[in-house]
Amino acid sequence: MALYSEKVMDHFRNPRNVGVMEDPSGVGEVGNPVCGDIMKIYLKIENDVITDVKFETFGCGSAIASSSMATELIKGKPLSEALELTNKAVTEALGGLPAHKLHCSVLAEEAIKAAVKDYYDKNGIAYDPAMFPEGCDCDHCGCH
Ligand code: FES
Repeated sequence: MALYSEKVMDHFRNPRNVGVMEDPSGVGEVGNPVCGDIMKIYLKIENDVITDVKFETFGCGSAIASSSMATELIKGKPLSEALELTNKAVTEALGGLPAHKLHCSVLAEEAIKAAVKDYYDKNGIAYDPAMFPEGCDCDHCGCH
């Protein structure tokens, strides 16, 4: 069996929503301290809905495919739904990732959360800090 699903290869070769956004509502940048990969997500938010999303990922193929899929999953969705997006959902939508690559999808979940937090902070919107815990719980990337 191939190591990577067709969907992973498709999103790696033809990533959706790549680029920089002018005047974003929120930006989230996260890095994996072990591999050094970096992911940046830009959100345009109107009336609590994500109307546009862009990403830049300096990282491995799995991180690029995860970013691309994650942006597709949250585009047009309310913030509440975007905040519930887990790396597991991203991985499932990609048709799976090898176990040692699961942490790459964690970056996508974290970058989206960081971008929403940035939007809340910039606009003085109150939130429960527990919604944005430091580090992830993947046990791979060494961020905690
Ligand atoms: Fe670093 Fe995939 S190996 S995010």
